[in-house]
Amino acid sequence: AAQAALGDLIEVAGQIAAFTGAGISTECGVPDFRSKDSPWRRLRPIEFDLFLSDALMREEAWRRKFALDDLYAHATPGRGHYALANLVASGKAASIITQNIDNLHQASGVPAERIIELHGNGSYAGCLSCGARYELLPIRRAFEATGAAPVCAACGGIVKSATISFGQPLPKEALARAYKASVACDLFLAIGSSLVVYPAAAFPSLARETDARLVIVNGEETPLDAEADLVLRGDIGDIFQPFAS
Ligand code: OAD
Ligand code: ZN
Repeated sequence: AAQAALGDLIEVAGQIAAFTGAGISTECGVPDFRSKDSPWRRLRPIEFDLFLSDALMREEAWRRKFALDDLYAHATPGRGHYALANLVASGKAASIITQNIDNLHQASGVPAERIIELHGNGSYAGCLSCGARYELLPIRRAFEATGAAPVCAACGGIVKSATISFGQPLPKEALARAYKASVACDLFLAIGSSLVVYPAAAFPSLARETDARLVIVNGEETPLDAEADLVLRGDIGDIFQPFAS
């Protein structure tokens, strides 16, 4: 019944904003953050100020990043990703706001300009000083050969995975686009997020306050469930299966 209600809300929606968290990618083999045996508990990302201040911390950060990458290097999109790709292709969904860094929305065929990455992207790196982009493979080869964290060939600056660490400001452009998408939509779908990390978790409430319907799809309770028009508690892949093909 709840699934039919979701179908009805999608049917009547004029403009959908989807908002995704790690739970949409667990069926793809990418672990989430807060579940019991998440590898993030042992491969915890280094906080931004430590990364900046200490070369040894940078080396440790790269070690952990590559170890995590190895865990899901061959992940492919799941049913939730394909369902959202269909909503974008049909014109129903204008944007996908994501906290995920796994590149799986892109891999599902959604045009890059429709994807708003609040926490960056783990599939490349960038210079924190001049913004030069770096691919991971050469960085990894050099790191494994020398043990030294990469520096920018252009300016000598610190090179970091293009993800956002705790303590690092979110990209201004992504925040501005997420804001616009949240106030413009009339249906906001929050999928697979524990909704506890801010500022990202402010967008579902913002949409609700600007008169969108709010649907929360997650396997466990979230702090925003009480604000939602509809809560679907179950497996994301199963719930979006009917929209995935
Ligand atoms: P979390 O790990 O906090 O939440 C994922 C949610 O998805 C949990 O509530 C799970 O119960 C649920 N879940 C997992 N698999 C599911 C499935 N198959 N079906 C239904 N529900 C499922 O991940 P996020 O909310 O994305 O930030 O985490 C937010 C941010 O915290 C991340 O972007 C990251 C992290 O620290 C930074 O690194 C800055
Ligand atoms: Zn540089």
